[in-house]
Amino acid sequence: MSFSNGFLWGGAVAAHQLEGAWQEGGKGVSVADVMTVGGYGKPREITDGVLEGKIYPNHDAIDFYHHYKEDLALMAEMGFKAFRTSIAWTRIFPKGDEAEPNEEGLKFYDDLFDEMRRLGIEPVVTLCHFELPYHLVTEYGGFRNRKVVDFFVKFATTCFERYKDKVKYWMTFNEINNQRNTDVPFFAVTNSGFTYKEGEDRKLVLYQVAHNEFVASAKAVIAGHKINPKFQIGCMLNIGPVYTESCRPADAITAMKEMDKTWFFSDVQCRGHYPTYVLKEWENKGYKIQMEDNDLEVLAQGKVDYFAFSYYQTVVVSSVKKNEDGDEFSNGLDNPYVEKSDWGWKIDPVGLRYALNLVQERYELPMMIVENGIGLHETEADKQEDGMIHDDARIAYFRAHISEMKKAVEEDGVDLLGYLTWGPIDLVSAGTGEMEKRYGFIYVDKNNKGEGTLRREKKKSFFWYKDVIASNGEKL
Ligand code: BG6
Repeated sequence: MSFSNGFLWGGAVAAHQLEGAWQEGGKGVSVADVMTVGGYGKPREITDGVLEGKIYPNHDAIDFYHHYKEDLALMAEMGFKAFRTSIAWTRIFPKGDEAEPNEEGLKFYDDLFDEMRRLGIEPVVTLCHFELPYHLVTEYGGFRNRKVVDFFVKFATTCFERYKDKVKYWMTFNEINNQRNTDVPFFAVTNSGFTYKEGEDRKLVLYQVAHNEFVASAKAVIAGHKINPKFQIGCMLNIGPVYTESCRPADAITAMKEMDKTWFFSDVQCRGHYPTYVLKEWENKGYKIQMEDNDLEVLAQGKVDYFAFSYYQTVVVSSVKKNEDGDEFSNGLDNPYVEKSDWGWKIDPVGLRYALNLVQERYELPMMIVENGIGLHETEADKQEDGMIHDDARIAYFRAHISEMKKAVEEDGVDLLGYLTWGPIDLVSAGTGEMEKRYGFIYVDKNNKGEGTLRREKKKSFFWYKDVIASNGEKL
């Protein structure tokens, strides 16, 4: 047996991608509520408030807000040991800067976590998953503004106090390293609620925003440990290991530098101080990052307890070529050794084993895979005689990834707490806003235009994953 008895098998979602009910229970408008539906190669629009005639898929999503009991029952049927979701900041502090939290929002998550516990499912909770209150964006400029650090810490502390006996595993900022790519303004908005202004040095702005977030995260970690010393509070990064296109020596440096853009975020959160390669860059470029007197001490004290990450794909770089793989998010080159999904994402199971080893060796912290999965096109028309969608491609994807994860545990000895697949139930895509980029073991009858009955149906992979969990990863 390679996985411990308490290994956390399960799935992961984010509030804004499935709850819907965007104006119920006193909820405020979040950045996700002003994002339209896009598609592969068609970026989501971030509108100036909610506009007539646009489709905003997160407003209703799959209405988990009203269906969570039914949905959690399906997760329990699959044998889930853990379920990751986020707490929508705007349900707790609708505008983000209120003095008092919204009781109705707090109560919703009480009920949700109680239901999970009743079913024997461990909640794993992200505090900030691409869903900042929109008011903090328009009035404060998001995490550019130091005041937002205090608002976040207040939100985090309110959640910690309220759910201290219900939730043990927390994460502060989802995929905090996405914004490393300053060429894609979408990440600045989704990660941190800010936009770049004409002519400014984007790198400098990013470092300032990141510093504010590191302080926010560290303060939350410190406060959380005081509230309940048993809390496990993690960072959360998108780990896409970087490969060199060739054995050209300069390519190795390019790959290392590209990976450092990611490590920067976890180096600070895991080690509690800035790495030398960044301090040197600041010195060389004359960057002055605004810090308050005890910020560095806060960073040193607020180190995370574990390393959570999503894994979807690897990146290929070269010192002489750029951006040729057609994926607007990766900045990389094609990889002739791996297949691609319909959305151009590279399918690389071995990269997951590699990622686990890279993180283990760098930080020697327990890890949790909190996202992994594949978006596929599936419709009612794909059903076979038994009335089920036969998502064999999804099964093949997970089989290959879990096999590699197993090698990392059995052969390489990595310290892994759990494996949570992304979107165990179909939900709204964060990148494209599509419903029809489906990740689920459970199909939800809804299309990109927002039409459908919301009926839930088990796909073939539902039964496959159930067997995987029941056999603790032995039966793939
Ligand atoms: C991660 C996010 O980037 O990947 C999720 O944490 C997101 O929110 C997931 O949904 C898959 O990406 P996408 O764009 O296919 O939804």
